[in-house]
Amino acid sequence: MILVAGATGTIGRALIPQLLAARADVRVLTRDPTRARALWGSDVEVASGDFTDAPSLGRSLEGVERVFLLTAPGPTVADHDRAMAAAVMRSRVEQIVKLSAYGAEQEDLIASGWHREGEEAVIATGRRFTLLRPAGFHSNVLAWAASVRAGAPIEISTGTGKHAVVDPRDVAAVAARALTSNDHDGRAYTLTGPVGLDAHEQIAILAEALGRPLAAEDVTVEHAAGKMRAAGAPEAFVAAVLQGLTFLRDGRASAPTDDVAAVLGRPPRPFAAWVRDHLDAFR
Ligand SMILES: NC(=O)c1ccc[n+]([C@@H]2O[C@H](COP(=O)([O-])OP(=O)(O)OC[C@H]3O[C@@H](n4cnc5c(N)ncnc54)[C@H](OP(=O)(O)O)[C@@H]3O)[C@@H](O)[C@H]2O)c1
Repeated sequence: MILVAGATGTIGRALIPQLLAARADVRVLTRDPTRARALWGSDVEVASGDFTDAPSLGRSLEGVERVFLLTAPGPTVADHDRAMAAAVMRSRVEQIVKLSAYGAEQEDLIASGWHREGEEAVIATGRRFTLLRPAGFHSNVLAWAASVRAGAPIEISTGTGKHAVVDPRDVAAVAARALTSNDHDGRAYTLTGPVGLDAHEQIAILAEALGRPLAAEDVTVEHAAGKMRAAGAPEAFVAAVLQGLTFLRDGRASAPTDDVAAVLGRPPRPFAAWVRDHLDAFR
């Protein structure tokens, strides 16, 4: 049995069908069983649980051999990873595949630190593990959908900084491989798309697919942070995002890696393919 945390999210929704296609027995961990059942019907078992509720994690791991550990972005990543790692140590789980983040090994980023602490907790369980460190997801441009539909300019705070964004379906495919074989034990993969793209290049690809021009407006990272504060984001999260946007603006996540191709035996999907498959969200 494989327990999938985050099964209702971006990677989880791409991962479950791939695990079911591989004929794996799957249980999902969710705070919202009704939503999970609406998504997956009776194809998966549903465990109601929360990373802040240790007994619920223990129950979710009964009879489980492998865990896909995805915790929601933000300052709680490390605490939630540690909570699951502690539950794993009280269980018979043999393997954890942790969804981490690009640059988790970097010393100087706040958000990297959250994931690095989570990775350390996973490694400290002494169970078999695989660490997946994806770049930003292609799907993050869904944040532009409202502006695109309204004909408003898309605000760009990362300037001409290129970012080797990755298709969430490829991240899920690598996770599925790691969860259904022992070939990836002890490995840390940095998962990227085929090429670094800046936001203006992404907008040009989206505009071409839509068949109409799209307007963009360059803003500062401080402007982006101000909007997050106004929307009520906690300061620890704003500080991390501000630093992360500067990291991207400086082009420090621009270099593609070979890890997706090495695991999947095919090149990573280009951004244009994700756009083609999700155009309706922008119409
Ligand atoms: N977005 C990116 O570009 C990117 C890039 C690299 C790494 N990452 C990492 O990827 C991870 C996922 O980020 P995302 O934005 O794509 O989120 P997401 O997976 O779309 O959504 C978060 C998921 O976490 C679950 N969750 C939230 N709080 C929970 C709790 N207290 N207990 C149990 N489950 C909980 C939610 O499930 P329920 O609501 O069903 O409980 C939901 O399925 C994060 O760790 C992030 O740092 C993201």
